[in-house]
Amino acid sequence: MVRQRRSATLPEFPWDTLADVTALARSHPDGIVDLSVGTPVDPVAPVIRDALAAGSSSPGYPTTAGTPELREAMVRALDRRYGITGLTPQTVLPVIGTKELIAWLPTLLGLGSDDVVVVPELAYPTYEVGARLAGAQVLRADSLTQIGPQVPALIYLNSPSNPTGRVLGRDHLRKVVTWARERGVLVASDECYLGLSWDADPVSVLHPSVCDGDHTGLLAIHSLSKTSSLAGYRAGFVAGDPAVVAELLAVRKHAGMMVPGPIQVAMVAALDDDEHEALQRDRYAQRRNLLLPAFREAGFTVDHSEAGLYLWATRGEACRDTLRWLAERGILVAPGEFYGPAGDRYVRVALTATDERIQQAAERLAG
Ligand SMILES: Cc1ncc(COP(=O)(O)O)c(C=O)c1O
Repeated sequence: MVRQRRSATLPEFPWDTLADVTALARSHPDGIVDLSVGTPVDPVAPVIRDALAAGSSSPGYPTTAGTPELREAMVRALDRRYGITGLTPQTVLPVIGTKELIAWLPTLLGLGSDDVVVVPELAYPTYEVGARLAGAQVLRADSLTQIGPQVPALIYLNSPSNPTGRVLGRDHLRKVVTWARERGVLVASDECYLGLSWDADPVSVLHPSVCDGDHTGLLAIHSLSKTSSLAGYRAGFVAGDPAVVAELLAVRKHAGMMVPGPIQVAMVAALDDDEHEALQRDRYAQRRNLLLPAFREAGFTVDHSEAGLYLWATRGEACRDTLRWLAERGILVAPGEFYGPAGDRYVRVALTATDERIQQAAERLAG
């Protein structure tokens, strides 16, 4: 029997479609400025690297739940950095980077073909991938009205947003939480850019001003990839509803989804140190201060982008045309259509390049 390949049920891996424009951008005499994937480029802070080295003799299996030190550090950091109160070490769980969690969350929760997963209209593609891996249905919606009378199993929020940099206000979050609670819908709030805010004040779904201190039906997803430049370590965590976190732990234990021991040690150091995190935020702020006016002066309109790691920009034309226009100047960005049909006239510009490359991009845009 020939089974259908699982990959055939998933969207085309989007980055594979950029070969032509990548080659064009690479042919620039002064080299490519790659603002596409959004992969961090700054060195990992010494405090984290030292901890990794100190934890490197790690012959035994790590625990799926995370060490007690790590679980306490996650609780402390969420309180200190984002004002999230009421968590305990039992209500947080480390994951092997949040992409892993997002790709498998619907499966881990036992969702299937009768279930609907709501994702933002413009969204990080892995929300949809995770739903499809579980065989669940996907609905793109930014408002509760768009959802109508149906009762989804899971709603994703992402504020600040990838790709738009849009921040959802407290009132909006409160409305979603109330609506979801009344219907028993789980809300998964992807907060991996919460620490990177410029002209807005993003707030966690677990903040008492949003959920009144009750975490039932709520999960917040946090990543160290961007705020601590640790994408290479694969270090994230999830926090919230005690019953849901316990269930995730129970299934993940069976599935071998454990964060390597040395990475757990490094995560504690990253979570306990706010200095390197502030430094990283400043680096991105400076790059944004250069790129935002450069894109505007080159005739782009930049929408939202008040927080997070990206500029959401348009020249009022099909995104592939803008992609080519930029590639001719040696600048590679992501086409907005990667994130949903509503993005087909936008490009996403990542702030993740060295200061030298960002300066190059600004000069090339100035013509
Ligand atoms: C919105 C969003 N969520 C999650 C992730 C995954 O990050 P990681 O797996 O590195 O934690 C990303 C990465 O770019 C993202 O943009």
